Amino acid sequence: MRVIKIKIFIDSSMIQEIKDAHSAGILDGVTTNPSLIKKAVEGYKKRGESINIEEYIKEILLIAKGLPVSLEVIGPHFEDMVREGKKLFKMFNPVAGNVYIKIPVNPSINDESGDNFAGIKAIKELSGQNIPINCTLIFTPEQALLAAKAGAKFVSPFAGRIDDHIRSRNNISFEKSDYFPASGIEGDGEILSDNGIVSGIDLVAQIKDIFDNYNIKDTEVLAASIRNPRQAREAAIVGADIATLPINVISELLKHFKTREGMEKFMGDVVPEYSNLLKG
Ligand code: E4P
Repeated sequence: MRVIKIKIFIDSSMIQEIKDAHSAGILDGVTTNPSLIKKAVEGYKKRGESINIEEYIKEILLIAKGLPVSLEVIGPHFEDMVREGKKLFKMFNPVAGNVYIKIPVNPSINDESGDNFAGIKAIKELSGQNIPINCTLIFTPEQALLAAKAGAKFVSPFAGRIDDHIRSRNNISFEKSDYFPASGIEGDGEILSDNGIVSGIDLVAQIKDIFDNYNIKDTEVLAASIRNPRQAREAAIVGADIATLPINVISELLKHFKTREGMEKFMGDVVPEYSNLLKG
């Protein structure tokens, strides 16, 4: 296949979605997280079916053979993350050799007594054991920089969630899929920001700039939490190495009213002489 530098991952734990994207021939990887796994499990429960999560994950890994699949740890402490990361890797990597372990950059949920270094230490420890790491929940360029220094193979800035945060904090109502300009939005006469980050795409761009400054080549910038096709386009414009997209956004990338309208016109204009030529 032709090698195009930006990679498209699917952000999903739904087997059918992963199969659909893969069969289109443009899929480069899969990202999951506990919320996406929950969605898949709840889908089964709703239908009154049982799910063997170990077999289920193995099926995902086989569908995506040859492509990285990120599986996330759940513990908030260094020891939990290292133990879970090793367990996930040992249990699942032999299936197709494509497991990446997702580690939150900072799992502490307590500012006062939390260990803010736990994520970075876990990345360092697991990377040192040749377990490839996707560092997740990145909301600042400096988090990405430290994750890269610790040895993460991917850093995942959550573009859409930064946009959500800027809007919520400024009491701007929005739908999750609403476009948020890469250049930011104005409020009270100034561009709103989260400590100098004016949009999720700006976060991705700043990380790319810093990585370029220091010639960081071993860590790829994976634009995550992408909510609509225009945001996916902008992630590509600012040079994201990877974009992970939900299935609806992947399919929306291909749509345009004029494409459909043009298709209808061409189909309406087919003359028998031409259609006969193409029969059989
Ligand atoms: C990334 O790896 C995450 O799974 C994901 O992109 C989060 O997206 P959301 O903010 O739309 O939930």
